[in-house]
Amino acid sequence: MPAELICFERFCRARYSIDAVLYNCPRCGGLLEVTYPPPALDPDQLKRLWRERRTSNAPLDQSGVWRFRECIPFLDDERHVVTLREGNTPLLEAPRAAIYAGLDRLVFKHQGFNPTGSFKDNGMTCGAAQAMRLGKKRVACVSTGNTSASMAAYAAAAGMQAIVFIPHGNISYGKLAQALEYGARTLQVEANFDQILALVRVLAERLGIYLLNSINPFRIEGQKSIMVEMLDQRDWTPPDWVVLPGGNLGNISAFGKALREMYEWKLIRKMPRLAVVQAEGSAPFYALMRSMDKSSLKPVEKPETLATAIRIGDPVSWPKALHEVLNSRGAVTKASEQEIADAKAQIGACGIGCEPASAATLAGIRKLRMSNVIAENADVVAVLTGNLLKDPDYIYRYHTGQLQAPNGVPIHPTYGNQPTVVPNDADKIAELLSARPA
Ligand code: F0G
Repeated sequence: MPAELICFERFCRARYSIDAVLYNCPRCGGLLEVTYPPPALDPDQLKRLWRERRTSNAPLDQSGVWRFRECIPFLDDERHVVTLREGNTPLLEAPRAAIYAGLDRLVFKHQGFNPTGSFKDNGMTCGAAQAMRLGKKRVACVSTGNTSASMAAYAAAAGMQAIVFIPHGNISYGKLAQALEYGARTLQVEANFDQILALVRVLAERLGIYLLNSINPFRIEGQKSIMVEMLDQRDWTPPDWVVLPGGNLGNISAFGKALREMYEWKLIRKMPRLAVVQAEGSAPFYALMRSMDKSSLKPVEKPETLATAIRIGDPVSWPKALHEVLNSRGAVTKASEQEIADAKAQIGACGIGCEPASAATLAGIRKLRMSNVIAENADVVAVLTGNLLKDPDYIYRYHTGQLQAPNGVPIHPTYGNQPTVVPNDADKIAELLSARPA
């Protein structure tokens, strides 16, 4: 039985060919996922094979996604793969952040080490490969910045045209700059992410452009590798918790699918619990988890947060995300602008750093720790989704006390680090440096 697309809705489960250009189930409108038979190799053989590939110079083996290709066997011809050696991201011990969160130990899986600086590259290499396999010449996405940067890079590498739609004025310059530099046709729309997604879906259909948002099930397949690589790096000892920020909820869907498959295929014997953190002003999934009626998500009409990557009010993948959180006995929380900003400075002070949306992870862990959902001695892997340099403006404003929440409330620079202007005078500088820091 080859790979197929299957409707995610339990009552439907309609199946479609892997070559069909579909983003939703034509029968019921549900989300789609890719399904495969279990791998032919047994768990120990797979683990050994994946470890051996780390010493190989073959491009596919050097990719932290395609090294695990037995988990994503949807291609019939590997020549369709475009790799920028995505994945291969480190697990970083962060004792200082652990103390801040109230944990004995904390490890970050830092996806900001990817070629375009975010976890989107893990998914994009698969989405781009499927586009190549389908013979598509043009790919499109709406993005809060990282998806567009990643898609622009992979499309350029593959020789496809990238068409990027972004909410005008609401993405960081670092991300916009990437799309321009990688040569994407970049359209800034006077609307928010959710409104533009509806627009792009119409245009993709009308113009035959391949859509590479995370509603595309092949993107989700690629993002599974973040969990597979993490488990490989931990010699297949699953953590108690995996914590990540949630926006459009594609990543949590990918992590849940990966862990379910690893469990079903007997690569692990325990399912980690999944925790999602949203920004307070863009937290429809948090609201859904708190509500008695989980049959429909109530969108946030005007989502707001300085963590622009997760400024999303109507996340498309919520049914998958809901399933994965419940299935793993997970949790959902939200963090305020101040909490995100302070957590971010703490991650920076570890010598690690990340972009604002990623810091929601640490802010959320701290809250889940305070309410005792996560135990002090829990084994926690926190996923940092994007690189520090994605949004330098935010950093400068925080440290100099100029950062303001979207509602105008100033963010206190709790861990601020002001630059000092000094005269070109050795005596004065020496005097300044011998004084005790303020
Ligand atoms: N962190 C970062 C840095 C992101 O860029 C995103 C999403 C998320 C977290 C949330 O992930 O959507 O899978 O729940 N960014 C998308 C984009 C929406 O367009 O780049 P999610």
